[in-house]
Amino acid sequence: MVRGIPETAAPLIPPRPTLPKLREAAAACRACDLWRRGTQTVFGEGGRSARLVLVGEQPGDREDLEGRPFVGPSGQLLDAALGEAGIDRKLAYVTNAVKHFKWEPRGKKRIHQKPNAVEIAACRPWLDAELAVLRPEVLVCLGATAAQALLGRTFRVTKSRGALIPSPLAPHVIATVHPSSILRAPDEAARRREREMFVRDLRFAARYLARA
Ligand code: URA
Repeated sequence: MVRGIPETAAPLIPPRPTLPKLREAAAACRACDLWRRGTQTVFGEGGRSARLVLVGEQPGDREDLEGRPFVGPSGQLLDAALGEAGIDRKLAYVTNAVKHFKWEPRGKKRIHQKPNAVEIAACRPWLDAELAVLRPEVLVCLGATAAQALLGRTFRVTKSRGALIPSPLAPHVIATVHPSSILRAPDEAARRREREMFVRDLRFAARYLARA
């Protein structure tokens, strides 16, 4: 809340939105304070005809610099896992719950900070507008931030990953872990195990694309 005004991107959504119009409008978004820290808005990426939408948390360091979602280490893992699950990333739309990089300095590094509920809520109209334009057949939430933003604060990825979740957002909604959690696994064996489960969840999502 800034001087009694709720932080929301809602007034910035253009009439009769299209993806290019939304991207252009989002570039000037100052609905919350994160624009001060990020280099630029990192809007979603993918074709208008994408039937699969993947939603992450927020852009990371690389994404912030390049202005594209999931192009850093998590993105590379995601691309490889999508490939193994038989999904071409070029046919998917990839976006984030929050579209600016939230970070704090530690030495020369920019360390990721989790977005808070106000920032997530402020950014939500962009995600809703992307989903309204795309109307995907399958929606995959990557990690707790995206899942809780879209499916409710009490949603637990650990409990409900890899299963269909009834939701008005898309005919088939699935949540799985965020690829960065796989990169952070404590050892090689855990990483391999986590990665296999991630690919399994994406394969499950791919089934509904094949059917549609
Ligand atoms: N993590 C995310 O959640 N999104 C990105 O775009 C990159 C890393």
